[in-house]
Amino acid sequence: MEEEKKIPQVMLTGDRPTGRLHIGHYVGSLRRRVELQNEGKFDEMYIMIADTQALTDNAGNIQKVENNVIEVALDYLSAGIDPSKVTIFVQSRIPELFEFTCYFMDLVTLSRLERNPTVKSELAMRGFDESIPVGFLTYPISQAADILMFGTTIVPVGEDQAPMIEQATEIAHKFNSTYKPVFLEPKIMLPENESARRLPGTDGKAKMSKSLGNCIYLSDDEATVNKKVMSMFTDPTHLRPEDPGHTKDNPVFIYLEAFATDDHFARFYPEFKNLDELKAAYEHGGIGDVKVKKFLCAVLNDVLDPIRSKRHELEKDIASVYRILEEGTKRAQEKAHYIALRARRAMGVDYFENHKLIEKQQKAYNKAHEQEKAYAEYLAKQKK
Ligand code: TRP
Repeated sequence: MEEEKKIPQVMLTGDRPTGRLHIGHYVGSLRRRVELQNEGKFDEMYIMIADTQALTDNAGNIQKVENNVIEVALDYLSAGIDPSKVTIFVQSRIPELFEFTCYFMDLVTLSRLERNPTVKSELAMRGFDESIPVGFLTYPISQAADILMFGTTIVPVGEDQAPMIEQATEIAHKFNSTYKPVFLEPKIMLPENESARRLPGTDGKAKMSKSLGNCIYLSDDEATVNKKVMSMFTDPTHLRPEDPGHTKDNPVFIYLEAFATDDHFARFYPEFKNLDELKAAYEHGGIGDVKVKKFLCAVLNDVLDPIRSKRHELEKDIASVYRILEEGTKRAQEKAHYIALRARRAMGVDYFENHKLIEKQQKAYNKAHEQEKAYAEYLAKQKK
């Protein structure tokens, strides 16, 4: 009896290279990726630097994308991604992704694209109005190719990416039912803890984002981190230390929730055992914001120190970081190539590799020629 073949567990995720990564990326995804890598539960792991996607709304800004490919790679490696366990690769250098983006376009309607809530809100944010680049509107199709062309089973991303995974699942289903079963339907993996889902900006705005200038970057030095933390937005009703304070919706406490461990308390703030105790005291009154912010500085710098020193080492040999990307991209392309062969066959567009097709076409022509001959003979006989 044939043993049932196990489907390889493949993780794939990615980021647009439009800026250095910040602590919001770290708690929202990067930290988890490193954990997943070290747990070793996946057969294959891919992290894509999505430069093609970054270009969909940066066509006039190629310098930004070009520069940030290496920045994002440096951030990955310094945060602990190990290129011997995870294939880090560059999206634009995998031709199969463009090829299947194009085929997948035949399987999706315009109205389906226009309904995508993430695209809708991004369009509103960018103020494209009537001048939406076609490539931007269709990037969910390109992202479906990113996911499907590697046999991905799990996509760890934030909630805002759920519509993209849905789109990829729909395309896989549509392709499989229209042609032949080739693509797996991927599953989303959302961040585990609540505070990790979205880290607010230092100004208290809902999202940490480069354009809002409210980020703490993984590569910020100690003095910069301290300066940013000391000027952070806190509880506007907590004017004097003795006033009772609010910890909910207070970014300083949201950051502590995401980063502070009991060990940090033992080392930097021994008056309290853990965050629950500090919160209770702050809410009761008697704790000044400066004290809490100084603790947050110590915590963040403790987390960022090893990341910064790893980055510093890597920055000394940029050529070898590009080599890591190049080798990763080669490995990724081998995988995409293999899946593309099956997908082209399913669609019948593998004209030169498909020997059965050549035979079939030859037989059809042989038959046609025979019939032609028979007909000519018949006509000739009739004339006589
Ligand atoms: N859209 C993702 C983002 O903006 C980046 C991305 C591109 C991605 N391709 C992907 C994420 C494939 C997961 C899988 O963050």
